[in-house]
Amino acid sequence: MADKDRVERLLASMTLEEKLGQLNMIDAGAPPMGEPEMERQVAAGRIGSLLNIHGAERLNRLQKMAVDNRLKIPLIFGLDVLHGHRTIFPLPIAETCAFDPGLWERTARAAVEETSRAAITLTFAPMLDVCRDPRWGRIAEGPGEDTLVTSRYAEAKVRGFQGTDLRDGVAATAKHMGAYGAVAAGRDYGSADISERQLAEVYLPPFEAAVKAGVAAVMPSFNDVAGIPATAHGEILNDLLRTRWGFDGIVVSDYTAVVELIAHGVAGDIAEASALALKSGVDIDMQDEAYVRGLPDALKRGLVTMGDIDRAVRRMLTLKERLGLLDDTYRRTSAPPLPANHYDALARDAARRSAVLLKNEKSVLPLKPGTRRIAVIGPLGDDPLQMFGCWFAAAGMDSATIVRGLRAALPQTEILHEIGAHIEEPGETGIAAAVAAARSADVVILCVGEKKEMTGEAQGRGRLELPGSQRALAEAVLAVGKPTVAILCAGRPLTVPWLFERADAALAAWFLGSEAGHGIADVLTGAWSPSGKLSVTWPHDVGQIPIFYSHRATGRPAVPDVYYCNRHTDLPIEPQFHFGHGLSYTRFAVTKLNATPAEISGDQSVTIEAEVANEGGVAGEETLFLFLRDPVASVARPVLELKDFAKAVLKPGERKTVRFTLARNDLAFLGRDLKPRVEPGEFQIFVGASADRSKLTATAIRYR
Ligand code: NOJ
Repeated sequence: MADKDRVERLLASMTLEEKLGQLNMIDAGAPPMGEPEMERQVAAGRIGSLLNIHGAERLNRLQKMAVDNRLKIPLIFGLDVLHGHRTIFPLPIAETCAFDPGLWERTARAAVEETSRAAITLTFAPMLDVCRDPRWGRIAEGPGEDTLVTSRYAEAKVRGFQGTDLRDGVAATAKHMGAYGAVAAGRDYGSADISERQLAEVYLPPFEAAVKAGVAAVMPSFNDVAGIPATAHGEILNDLLRTRWGFDGIVVSDYTAVVELIAHGVAGDIAEASALALKSGVDIDMQDEAYVRGLPDALKRGLVTMGDIDRAVRRMLTLKERLGLLDDTYRRTSAPPLPANHYDALARDAARRSAVLLKNEKSVLPLKPGTRRIAVIGPLGDDPLQMFGCWFAAAGMDSATIVRGLRAALPQTEILHEIGAHIEEPGETGIAAAVAAARSADVVILCVGEKKEMTGEAQGRGRLELPGSQRALAEAVLAVGKPTVAILCAGRPLTVPWLFERADAALAAWFLGSEAGHGIADVLTGAWSPSGKLSVTWPHDVGQIPIFYSHRATGRPAVPDVYYCNRHTDLPIEPQFHFGHGLSYTRFAVTKLNATPAEISGDQSVTIEAEVANEGGVAGEETLFLFLRDPVASVARPVLELKDFAKAVLKPGERKTVRFTLARNDLAFLGRDLKPRVEPGEFQIFVGASADRSKLTATAIRYR
């Protein structure tokens, strides 16, 4: 609980400039006013928080300047710690493929141990943007296409970052609130012109989950939602977030998003922009000094009141108090540093659990013991920087590449390496050497994909093929005819049906972080039976986008060879790989699906049980998904909705019963009035290993 009196006393003693200072967050790596002036402003209490700042010495010096001021209010230091700080864990889109909230929490906690020693008290994570369009570069930073998975991810990350007491953790930011993942055509910063139903059913629930988990901050998105920029969306930020959900933390704008309200076309000048954002519920203005420059004028013009400003300042001071900064300015910066390899084992475990085995034919994987020579070919085979993905902080960091991982795992095997082609630049001069290496090897590991810089913010792509000359390289190497495993390193699904057709095996390796190569080697050698499952549907072709499992049926559902139906005439109906797809080295079977009681009413819940058996020869982990369908309702419901998922760890020959509970709330949907309701009738229940409907086991219950 925050000490409210202390916050009120501080607030009462502040001038307008000092108050606006608390609302002013500046990028210390690119201060708009220049560095000397930034320092002067920190010392004068005109800046309340900094982002993108590194190095204990600099941090502590600035912090000292801030607390030497008459008010003695420390700075908050913010940073995007999306998937690790010094130890880099898999990208969020990869880590969600582990379907393991415990893991999601552990990696966040590890990041806290590293960041809090570096004086960071606020992370701009977790990113909770449901995304069904892999053209959007930021799909890499989020948990994929599903609302329930994203909500579970939200809870786990908030727990991991914040712990039970903020003094011991780092404040988390649920971002970017406002259907950012739905920007048109995957072009970053575009409009999300979606229905209120979609907003409420698909995009906002993860934010509610984060609020329930106690998240300290929320960041609205850059885009507009049907014409209203999220930064000016009072209905979302005030009415929903604060009033209905009871959020009591800070809302921090995205980078220069307040001034951008002018470019959006909803504010005429900076006073209007800052007034609109503040009134809409944005407390902290990141980087553009809009509040400092615009609010004094807005006050004079009567666009805001001192009460509006005080409310935002109060929230910021409360956060500083909750973080313990008012008593312990330097917090854990004097804690002994962690050994450099402290989290390597966790990072390796996260990496191997996040890789998804998409295809494995002719038993090419796991690699046979005693394999004499392996040719690792491709630009992503041995480039340590590339393994980190789109967000990483510290300079001079190194990662285990695929070549390094294989050399460590298979000391008796000769591991050749040829780049063959650059990731992006054209040029085919390296292909001949790659082909020669492939010819001389027993197995080829083809490491192709995207540059990490091609994913993340502002990295929308209209084509999702392999960039540069990588296709020419891959085709030349495949033509050699050796057993070939394609490893795709990318921040999104790539549309390479020809590669999936011709390679014997394919592994979605995303960007797996510091221990990528060791984790991948564990999978390739069979030290780990792959267990990752796709958290996003994988299209064959960009033309299928948006393609996701929880679509509606339509009056003329897609059926092969039916003329008048919901399909493209020149593309398959099905995706390349379904949501939840992911192979292992063993075989699992799901049987004995049971729902009891089969009929419920009122607040009764249903217990769903299914038996899962390991029918193969090695131990493994299976993820089971519980889907629901409401076949007749006053608003058409999706063909499948994920309601829960669970893991079974099984030895060869072992079988276990997996149990789920469906509560009344799980049967609810938003009615025509967008209010939750449960309608009597039948509900179909499906359990299985992916959203491939042809492979799910089904039963049904009734609600009276
Ligand atoms: C812009 C990005 O949209 C946001 O996710 C990030 O937190 C800020 N920049 C700060 O780096």
